[in-house]
Amino acid sequence: MNDLASVLVVRKKLVVGNWKMNGSLARNAALLGGLKAAAVGGEVERVVCPPYPYLVQAIESLAGVPIAVGAQNLSAIKEGAHTGEVSASMLTDLGCRWVIVGHSERRNLYGEDDVAVAAKVQAALDAKLMPILCVGETLSQREAGQAESIVHRQLDGVVSVLGAERAGAVVVAYEPVWAIGTGRTASPEQAQAIHASIRAFLASRGVNAAEVRLLYGGSVTAANAASLFAQADIDGALVGGASLQVEGFSEICVAAAAS
Ligand code: 13P
Repeated sequence: MNDLASVLVVRKKLVVGNWKMNGSLARNAALLGGLKAAAVGGEVERVVCPPYPYLVQAIESLAGVPIAVGAQNLSAIKEGAHTGEVSASMLTDLGCRWVIVGHSERRNLYGEDDVAVAAKVQAALDAKLMPILCVGETLSQREAGQAESIVHRQLDGVVSVLGAERAGAVVVAYEPVWAIGTGRTASPEQAQAIHASIRAFLASRGVNAAEVRLLYGGSVTAANAASLFAQADIDGALVGGASLQVEGFSEICVAAAAS
C-alpha cells in the first residue's frame, strides 16, 4: 500500500449510473420505482444520470429517496444564443447535484478536447454542481504503453485551469475506453494501478488527493464490483449498461456499501 492510500481518510463509496441515451417515460418509471425500493441504508452514495428530457421525471420520482440525480453533459457557457445547449445553472435549477464531464463518448464522438472539458468542469463548479471528470485511454494507447501518460494529460488539462484547490472538489472517473460497453473490464489490479497513479499525479500537482474520490467505469457488473471495490484507490463506480437494471445497479451499490 502506498503512502497516499494508507492515509486515514474515509472516502464514502459513490456509485453513479450513466443511463447514456436510453430510456422512455414508461421504462424510466419502472426503473426508478425499483431503485427507490432498493435504496435502503448502506454506506454508499447513489446517483443516477438520465438523459436531459428525463431529469425532471427522475428528480420528482426520487424526492426524499437517497439517490441523487445528475446530468450527462453541460455547456461551458452561462446563457444566450447557443441552440441545443444546456447550462449548469439550468441543471441546478431543476435540482441536479451532479454532472458527468468529458465522457469518452463526448471526447471521441463529439470532439470535446481537454480545453473544452476543463471549461465545463469550471462551469459546473461555478454553479455548485459536482463534476464527475472522466479520463481514460484507448486500447491502442494502452498497447503503446501510454495509459498513464494519457490519463495524466487529461487530468493536467483540468488541474492547470482550475488550480489545485478547486481540482480537489472534482470526482474523477477512470474509464478505459476499451472496457466501455465491451464486457471486457479492467482487472482489479489494472484499475488499481491507474487509480494509484491518478492519486499520485494529483498529489504531485498540489491537490488534496487523499480526499478525491476515484471511480472506475467500464463493464462494471454485480459480478465484478466487489473485487474492484476491494482495491485501495477505487472509491466507487461509474456504471453504464448495468445501471439500466434495478438488480444490476442495486447489487453494485450493496457491494460498495459492504466494502
Ligand atoms: P458500461 O458499464 O456499459 O461499460 O459503460 C461504462 C460507462 O461508459 C459509464 O460512463
